[in-house]
Amino acid sequence: MEAQTTIPLVDTNIIPDRNAGLGSLLWDLQNPQDPDRDEPPLLDSAFAFIDVGVSRAKAAIALKTLLARDLKIDVDYVATELPDAVPYANVTLLGVGAEKIRGHLSRMSPSKKTTYAVTDWHYVVDRTGKVASVAYSYNHYGNEVWEAYFMGRRFLYAGERVAFSDPELDEMLAPTVVKIEAMIDLERKRDSDPSRPGPSWDGYGMEKNPLEAGLAEFGITLQKTGVPQRIKNRQNVLFLGNVLNQYPQDEQARELDRIAANMQEGDIVIVQVDEVETAFIEVLHVKKQGSRKTRARVRWINTKTLEVQMPVRGPGSWRPIRMKPEVERMVSRLVECLVRKVSFPEGHQKDYWVLAHQYISHVFATYFRALPVEAILRIAVREALWRLPSQGKYGFLGRIYEMRDFNPPTSETMSRLQAIIDEAFGRPAPEGN
Ligand SMILES: C[S@@+](CC[C@H](N)C(=O)[O-])C[C@H]1O[C@@H](n2cnc3c(N)ncnc32)[C@H](O)[C@@H]1O
Repeated sequence: MEAQTTIPLVDTNIIPDRNAGLGSLLWDLQNPQDPDRDEPPLLDSAFAFIDVGVSRAKAAIALKTLLARDLKIDVDYVATELPDAVPYANVTLLGVGAEKIRGHLSRMSPSKKTTYAVTDWHYVVDRTGKVASVAYSYNHYGNEVWEAYFMGRRFLYAGERVAFSDPELDEMLAPTVVKIEAMIDLERKRDSDPSRPGPSWDGYGMEKNPLEAGLAEFGITLQKTGVPQRIKNRQNVLFLGNVLNQYPQDEQARELDRIAANMQEGDIVIVQVDEVETAFIEVLHVKKQGSRKTRARVRWINTKTLEVQMPVRGPGSWRPIRMKPEVERMVSRLVECLVRKVSFPEGHQKDYWVLAHQYISHVFATYFRALPVEAILRIAVREALWRLPSQGKYGFLGRIYEMRDFNPPTSETMSRLQAIIDEAFGRPAPEGN
């Protein structure tokens, strides 16, 4: 076996909304719907949430916003990242050179068979001052996905070692990398001695400490550590979103022990693994047996088939709950309700509704990790409507597009959306809508 690199784990694929299903999962742990259950909920009404390995601020921000603002959950949200993976700066190249590289990035992909249009990209400078990777984004069902191109080093993707390099791209990047590293060197010298002159960033955009700064803006503190500290005086939920699958299979159990070492009896550990054959979320409850801590599995969710395994009373018995039919029913009702509300030019209708169905299905399949309840459904409906393409051939949303103007929402757009949500629930829309 090849020797491990010292930093095998880096931001390979970040989808801000990929963790949105945690909203419904945590809600369900706080408000169990199971009439057979007479035990208290597994999750307190107030808790601390530790998002392990955040990599980019956006993913953590999206989840915190969903929990704290949309679901009004009383949550202390903190994030962690390995010190080596916390960037010193992101540097954007401006002008024609940037456009050429964007075009090239659009034509290559280490992780997919298809190509896509790269919308944004920048250099990532690591904490030693070296350009470690190029991060680039593209659109995936209205979500901004970020991937990384690593500068001359291997990385793990979904537990598989990947050695992806594109010599033509390396050649295009090389001259700028040399310049950026020289300017970063000056920047770092000035950090330690502010009287020194800083570099000129003409032709570039430079953002220092992008991870900490991005998180801080949303009130999230960053722990730079591989072993998260526990938050005092609250139940803790430790969330490992696509962290363990960055380690080789045979190291994952040991890594989980290490990462969860500071959790205490009653805390919850959630492991999410995507991009593998059987994508899943596992929920573990920390218990104490004598002087030993153990983790009991309390949920196992197949996030592709949307099947939830729940323990039932009695040792070792599990009950499957199939969420898919219910989620699909909600998708169909929302599409039906939109079909009734929005009319399109003749000839485009069918194509449009097929596309709308795809978008809505995608969002709903991301948002539900427990059977739909009204609080989550409202958010998923709103999200699905926001995501529908607003431009191009299917930019039909002219009629309901104003509903995307949520910032600040006018009472009219709110009541129109409300009408759609009510219809999705099978209630009559108010007069005049
Ligand atoms: C693929 S990213 C996942 C990002 C995000 N959590 C998500 O769900 O999309 C994995 C991240 O975990 C970080 N990581 C790996 N082991 C870690 C540990 N023990 N503590 C904190 N971060 C870790 C890596 O540096 C990497 O940035």
